[in-house]
Amino acid sequence: MSRLLIQQYEIGPLNNFLYLLGDPETKEMAIVDPAWDVDFLASEAKRLGYKITKAFLTHAHPDHVNGLNKLLAIHQVPVYISKYEIPAMRPRITNLVEVTQQDKLSVGKISFDVLYTPGHTPGCQCFLAQGQLFTGDTFFIDGCGRCDLPGSDPKAMYNSLYNILMKLPDETVVYSGHNYGPTPTDTMGNQKQTNPYLQYNSLKEFLVERMGL
Ligand SMILES: [Fe+2]
Repeated sequence: MSRLLIQQYEIGPLNNFLYLLGDPETKEMAIVDPAWDVDFLASEAKRLGYKITKAFLTHAHPDHVNGLNKLLAIHQVPVYISKYEIPAMRPRITNLVEVTQQDKLSVGKISFDVLYTPGHTPGCQCFLAQGQLFTGDTFFIDGCGRCDLPGSDPKAMYNSLYNILMKLPDETVVYSGHNYGPTPTDTMGNQKQTNPYLQYNSLKEFLVERMGL
């Protein structure tokens, strides 16, 4: 089994992190959140000697998917998105593949678990392979996604953070959807120490601090 190739790019006015994830053995690659400058990302894949064969969407907010039509014009690839997020897609993209928590995704021979982590949006999902976690806007280094937007649910966010992501091994490396923290990546173990949103003892405390409830 080859080791997952991870290319992290900060692109766009909102400090989005976009990712190319490749299997060095098969030279297949997935793009996580095709946005802002897909021409550049596609050229990067080519420069590295890979072929983009899939797109994984963490959620449907425009700053994560505004390059999807462009991507599909270049590469007719399947687009994996939570079934709970599909209603938010405008316009509807024909290549969407519904994903649920039980599904496994793959890039070449490398398998990804799908973690369903609603809260920021109804269909936020994270992708996990070889101890590397791609969190979109569910989790940032020293932060977490906004819970005050249409479709947000702060109680669901609490559950996603405390009962799903914090249960992962401490050595899990987090790759988030925006460059909002002091470092581009961190381990979950460190984040348990420094991320202010992981310091609460109850849902009630979390809601008070996150939402002023
Ligand atoms: Fe978002």
